[in-house]
Amino acid sequence: MRLDKFICKSTELTRTEAKSLLKTGKVRVNGEVSKNAAMQVHENNDITVEGQSLTARQSRYIMLHKPLDTICSNVDENYPSLFHLIDVDKAFDMHVAGRLDADTTGLVIITDDGRWSHNIISPKKQCEKVYRVFLRDNIKEDSAQKFEEGVQLQGEKSLTRPAKLKIIEDREVLLTITEGKYHQVKRMFAAVGNRVVGLHREQIGIVKLADLPLGEWRYLTEQEVNAFS
Ligand code: URA
Repeated sequence: MRLDKFICKSTELTRTEAKSLLKTGKVRVNGEVSKNAAMQVHENNDITVEGQSLTARQSRYIMLHKPLDTICSNVDENYPSLFHLIDVDKAFDMHVAGRLDADTTGLVIITDDGRWSHNIISPKKQCEKVYRVFLRDNIKEDSAQKFEEGVQLQGEKSLTRPAKLKIIEDREVLLTITEGKYHQVKRMFAAVGNRVVGLHREQIGIVKLADLPLGEWRYLTEQEVNAFS
């Protein structure tokens, strides 16, 4: 990780304060003064400030039940950021692994470990995400087959990857996808002539939202973290 980020992770300093500290020449990496905020360092490097060794805080892995009208961005925009709901130190330094729209509820995974979250986000990893979808019109009989074969989304070069559809009721289904294209679920149902009127994510990989109350969060268990490693 970058040296300025390492300093943030191991002190109370903000990124700007870490950069200012670096300019003073008080930071050494393996004995050498470094003023380079972008320098790549590892946790086993000896990084000191005025002779005191720094130890990076352990990465955090959290799940949250996202309410309606919150956004997954780290800054408030039209709606408040969901990071306000997480009362941990430097919550806004973390990121969401697979964002949900403001009008989608359900499971979000939040971390400050970018390498780990790549295993959830990258389409190459084919991590399954399960959505409960509420539809405007009754589900058509051939939709499951179409999703299995892949549908063409507007503006995309290739078909969607095979997705599994389980019909719960005429206008309620469970959809499992392994990608996370922009507004993917809404666009998939639009591609088969329907419209999503409610969307809720229930599961990512082995992590299930289960009975975590709306707006609440918890740390992932070791087993859950390791499942994406
Ligand atoms: N697909 C969507 O269309 N929206 C989401 O929030 C998540 C997946």
